[in-house]
Amino acid sequence: MVGVADLPSAEEPQRIDTDRPHPVRIYDYWLGGKDNFAADRALGDKIVEYIPATRIAMRENRAFLGRAVRYLAAEAGVTQYLDIGPGLPTANNVHEVAQSVTPSSRVVYVDNDPQVIVHARALLTSSPEGRTAYVEADLRDPSAILKDRTVREVLDFGQPIALMLVLLLHNIPDSDRPGEIVRTLVDALPSGSYLVASHPTAEYRPEQAEAGVQIGSEAGVPNVMRDSGDFARLAFTGLELVPPGVVLVSEWHPTGAGPRPVAADVSIFGGVARKP
Ligand SMILES: C[S@@+](CC[C@H](N)C(=O)[O-])C[C@H]1O[C@@H](n2cnc3c(N)ncnc32)[C@H](O)[C@@H]1O
Repeated sequence: MVGVADLPSAEEPQRIDTDRPHPVRIYDYWLGGKDNFAADRALGDKIVEYIPATRIAMRENRAFLGRAVRYLAAEAGVTQYLDIGPGLPTANNVHEVAQSVTPSSRVVYVDNDPQVIVHARALLTSSPEGRTAYVEADLRDPSAILKDRTVREVLDFGQPIALMLVLLLHNIPDSDRPGEIVRTLVDALPSGSYLVASHPTAEYRPEQAEAGVQIGSEAGVPNVMRDSGDFARLAFTGLELVPPGVVLVSEWHPTGAGPRPVAADVSIFGGVARKP
């Protein structure tokens, strides 16, 4: 439930600069959202010029996230979620999917972008039976996330928790030791917990991917492409992958009989794994 203490404070909007393109708002633009500005749309369109399938890839990633949470809620019986890097509120927000299956589900959203936290607090209200909370913190400091008072208050670390790192690990270059970050978080979870992760790859269209990385770095956003093997090792070492394992996000438990996009247009791998 959202209480007075959860509402955005008067100072928070001043930390948001709408004149400069911002990655999270560009992602919102590609997904068809409304929380973006002219500068975001201009850079988003420039990237699409270089990588025409960008929107297909982003929408497939978001649909994967929704199917993964539905699987965890409906088939694995998970009722607690730690969603790091949720992006701006859009379709398939974790608590909406989880609470549509189990209304008492508890979700903590963690992001290092103040804008995400402001929007999330304003828009992402919980079911009355469940709980939704928001924490501003950085994935690169996993101990701070694990120690956070709200994280500890909302989630019971004695019961399984699904850790969500969806379309996020590519923002963590090797120099920031992403493997250690993932292990620190997973080590803190009890047996029967899950990790959901996805990651873009340059395997299919290396030149386009390189252009995307370049544009990202010019905008101050580190983007690292990893192939499916590197991603699987980085995210899922020591965990039991749910079949079919690490696959293109469009191929993970697809629903409906309609045609699915070609692999190169998706170029994002994803997987779900259980901690033994
Ligand atoms: C591309 S969006 C992914 C949104 C959502 N997980 C999805 O897959 O649809 C990446 C999100 O990660 C957040 N993010 C990037 N680097 C981060 C970091 N070091 N710590 C916490 N959040 C981070 C961004 O602010 C953004 O909300």
